[in-house]
Amino acid sequence: MGKISEKSLTDVMKERHSVRKYDPNFTISEQEIKDIIKDAASAPSSSNLQPWRFIVIQDQETKKELRTIAYNQEQVETASAVVAVLGDKEMYKSTEKVYQDAYVAGFMDKGSMEQLIANANRTYTNAPEEVRKNIATFDAGLISMQLMLIAKERGYDTVPMAGFDKQKFIERFNVSERYFPILLLPIGKAAAPAHNTTRLPLEDIIIQSV
Ligand SMILES: Cc1cc2nc3c(=O)[nH]c(=O)nc-3n(C[C@H](O)[C@H](O)[C@H](O)COP(=O)(O)O)c2cc1C
Repeated sequence: MGKISEKSLTDVMKERHSVRKYDPNFTISEQEIKDIIKDAASAPSSSNLQPWRFIVIQDQETKKELRTIAYNQEQVETASAVVAVLGDKEMYKSTEKVYQDAYVAGFMDKGSMEQLIANANRTYTNAPEEVRKNIATFDAGLISMQLMLIAKERGYDTVPMAGFDKQKFIERFNVSERYFPILLLPIGKAAAPAHNTTRLPLEDIIIQSV
């Protein structure tokens, strides 16, 4: 079990970098991966529909197979776990569960619940698939960032990866039509530090300040 750091969020954030060399003999329990995902699920999402899903891969042979799907990127095989982040393009199917849970928890009255269910059902079912995929991709990015920071807080490292063959992934893991793969997230114990990276200067990224 990783020791939770007492560092500030800012320090954890600054110390996170993409690690591509992992100790292949280091294991993280399935329970700890679940704990990390549970904590990360506090991320915000559009209408709280949480259009993120995960496939947790820890089996050595499966990681080896996944490495070939990820264009032979080593970290997929040597990290302790790979969390594949998928989007739910039919997030409206979660509407009733999400708002009923909030109602049962006492967070809203029945009228608000019914109103929110009707609004969300209308908005998301009428949206084109492309729009729903964009929403799911954006929200999946938010939870992915939380996953990386929580892993770092526990002394682990990660590398977000979009470099893999999505179609092959879908076939290998029998991903249903409802979901689509977005990111692979290897998590493990660093065996070598990340490469240093720079960031664009502030004056390049703030394009207006009024
Ligand atoms: C969406 C996304 C996809 C990425 N895909 C890969 C990848 O396939 N392989 C890889 O080694 N790094 C990948 N990276 C890591 C970036 O190269 C890295 O985050 C960036 O260079 C900044 O470095 P840092 O994360 O160490 O701060 C990806 C990052 C993001 C956000």
